[in-house]
Amino acid sequence: MKYMVRKTSLLWVALLLAAIMAPQAYAKDAGMPNLAPKEVVIKRGMTEEAAKCIECHAKKTPGIIESWKLGKMGHASISCYDCHVVEKTSPMASQCEGVRGTQIFISPMVSSKTCSRCHPEEVDQFLKSAHADLSRKAVYDVTKAGGKLVALQLHHEGGEFMGIKRGSATNRAARVSGCMMCHGSEVELGPDNKPINATWPAGVGTLYPDGTVGTCTVCHTRHRFSIAEARKPEACASCHLGPDHPNIEIYLESKHGQIFLTQGDEWEWDSAPDAWQPGDYTAPTCATCHMSGIGELTTSHNPNERLKWDLMHAKSVVRSGERGDGVKGEEQMKKVCANCHGKSHTQAQRETLDTSVDLYNEYWDRAVVMKKELADKGLLKKDAWRDGFQELMYYLWHHTGRRARMGAAMNAPDYAHWHGFFQVFQVFKDMQDIHEWRLKNNKIEELSTVMSTGPT
Ligand code: HEC
Ligand code: HEC
Ligand code: HEC
Ligand code: HEC
Ligand code: HEC
Ligand code: HEC
Ligand code: HEC
Ligand code: HEC
Repeated sequence: MKYMVRKTSLLWVALLLAAIMAPQAYAKDAGMPNLAPKEVVIKRGMTEEAAKCIECHAKKTPGIIESWKLGKMGHASISCYDCHVVEKTSPMASQCEGVRGTQIFISPMVSSKTCSRCHPEEVDQFLKSAHADLSRKAVYDVTKAGGKLVALQLHHEGGEFMGIKRGSATNRAARVSGCMMCHGSEVELGPDNKPINATWPAGVGTLYPDGTVGTCTVCHTRHRFSIAEARKPEACASCHLGPDHPNIEIYLESKHGQIFLTQGDEWEWDSAPDAWQPGDYTAPTCATCHMSGIGELTTSHNPNERLKWDLMHAKSVVRSGERGDGVKGEEQMKKVCANCHGKSHTQAQRETLDTSVDLYNEYWDRAVVMKKELADKGLLKKDAWRDGFQELMYYLWHHTGRRARMGAAMNAPDYAHWHGFFQVFQVFKDMQDIHEWRLKNNKIEELSTVMSTGPT
């Protein structure tokens, strides 16, 4: 087993802090009931201002202090002051009750930029990953897919088509409660520099008013910021679930997930970065395969470094450009498996993935041909969401086709088959029937044959 320590910058910070830190002294909970506001007196390596934030917030927002004090950064004297105090000139600068009238300015918004002061490598990797700009642009960029994604959120889901005013709070409700909470938002500010229009808090790729990007708390929740938490599959499950990318469902049904469910309680979750290795656990979690150091691989905050295929879009291609380098990605992922499986086993899994992608792509290519024939003859409705053929085509790739591909990639036969290929062929045959009917009758059937629900 190799223990690689490449966190030299982090170690220096920790050493410096250890050197200047006075012995930790939490005031003991003087027999008060557990949930009542506690007195906390801070007498360790912190400035008086920094200690004041904690002392007052222990009364005003005890839940925050309770989490903070259990985390490694709480132990290392990284305080509210380090992350929330901003320059007076910051576009996000405001003052809470406790600092009003002083020269101290704070912000409830904290982007990855703040963390990069002490964790520059993690933030660099994160910013190159799809979790940063690509994630937010998927729901904001009006040029993406010819504006169709923004239209989906505001025109269709937000009810503009039935007269709800575009841009109104009601119109934006579907976007802010769903898409933005996973993908991220562009934070808008009111005159007091506080966020408005429910654009904060938001998901992983959030763009902050000072131009910085990224919400690190989606995997290490505040204010504990735990490495152990991020290593568990639940850390990913708030976003990677559901009919269109059921990664947590797939994982839990795979043999790896079943081992996690039966043995995970006994695993060691808190080993040092890059030193979390087989033995601490007996089967991989999402983090093990996609991010953590294992064997000769070091930890990365950019999951695309270990991916070959793009499995999320309508047609799967080998990754390139901003989506990573699929050739290298495949080699890296194989190195993950090599820690616990032999060559023949891993080769069989890679073949299963590649041939599943081929099969799915065959369906997709033929669907594209049918759609073109219908388009050439004027046999497609303008509103795709009222047109059975186009609705089914969406389910073909976005729901059933993703499930087939991702189920095959992550070793979940039930998803690859029953929620996947079984439904891929059914959806495809229904599309064939509609295609033939329209060509034969030279018209579009009046009612969508699909109506509201997709294949589950
Ligand atoms: C290591 C950095 C860090 C430290 C230390 C820290 N915070 Fe935070 N805090 C964050 C991040 C990150 C967020 C989420 C911000 C976002 O989504 O834009 C946050 C959010 C918040 C929020 C707004 C969210 C809410 O639930 O209302 C409050 C209030 C807050 N922190 C108070 C505190 C207090 C009080 C302390 C001191 C005990 C503290 N923070 C220590 C990083 C930190
Ligand atoms: C004397 C008590 C007191 C002190 C000292 C204090 N705060 Fe606060 N803080 C509050 C209260 C009360 C609130 C909630 C009401 C408000 O936002 O004014 C708050 C709110 C906040 C928020 C959330 C603001 C928002 O818009 O949601 C943050 C972040 C915060 N404080 C950080 C700090 C930091 C950092 C310090 C130290 C530099 C600090 N506080 C010192 C009492 C205090
Ligand atoms: C002022 C420096 C500083 C800032 C700013 C800072 N950190 Fe840290 N962080 C540290 C130090 C030091 C440690 C190591 C503490 C230890 O292990 O004793 C650490 C450890 C961590 C860990 C590992 C915790 C564990 O359970 O092992 C995570 C995760 C983390 N930080 C996330 C963040 C995030 C997210 C931000 C920004 C919101 C942030 N840090 C901002 C100094 C900082
Ligand atoms: C529950 C969290 C969640 C919600 C809600 C959500 N997404 Fe996603 N979305 C994801 C995840 C996770 C992926 C990545 C799937 C993968 O990698 O296989 C994704 C992928 C995408 C992609 C493909 C990636 C790209 O950059 O082209 C687009 C586009 C997209 N989502 C748009 C939206 C839109 C628009 C909405 C709202 C109408 C939305 N999403 C709602 C989590 C979510
Ligand atoms: C997609 C989930 C995810 C996001 C988002 C995320 N982290 Fe992590 N982080 C992890 C995982 C998983 C680990 C544990 C790696 C391991 O097993 O050692 C980790 C570990 C860390 C560590 C411990 C040292 C190391 O590099 O292993 C630090 C520090 C850290 N993260 C900081 C951050 C910062 C700063 C951000 C925001 C830019 C961030 N994380 C965003 C999942 C995430
Ligand atoms: C707050 C929501 C959220 C959380 C939590 C989250 N992700 Fe993601 N993830 C996304 C979104 C959104 C995308 C799609 C980004 C895009 O391409 O538009 C994504 C994409 C990915 C991808 C594809 C990357 C690529 O380059 O195309 C992988 C792999 C991934 N996430 C793994 C993880 C893992 C592992 C965890 C937990 C340790 C995790 N994610 C936690 C939202 C999330
Ligand atoms: C045994 C290792 C392993 C585990 C465990 C695992 N994955 Fe994967 N994952 C893979 C492989 C292999 C691929 C396909 C890689 C390729 O394209 O070559 C993949 C693909 C993905 C993708 C699709 C990216 C795209 O192209 O759209 C996402 C998202 C993802 N995984 C998230 C997760 C999440 C979230 C978990 C945990 C709930 C998880 N994975 C657990 C190995 C794993
Ligand atoms: C930490 C060790 C570990 C890693 C890393 C790991 N696996 Fe596994 N895997 C296991 C264990 C343990 C089993 C259960 C074996 C059994 O059924 O007896 C298993 C089972 C499987 C199975 C079920 C079929 C079977 O009975 O063998 C497949 C498929 C699989 N792994 C694929 C992969 C692939 C692909 C990778 C890399 C992307 C990978 N694994 C990485 C430990 C691991």
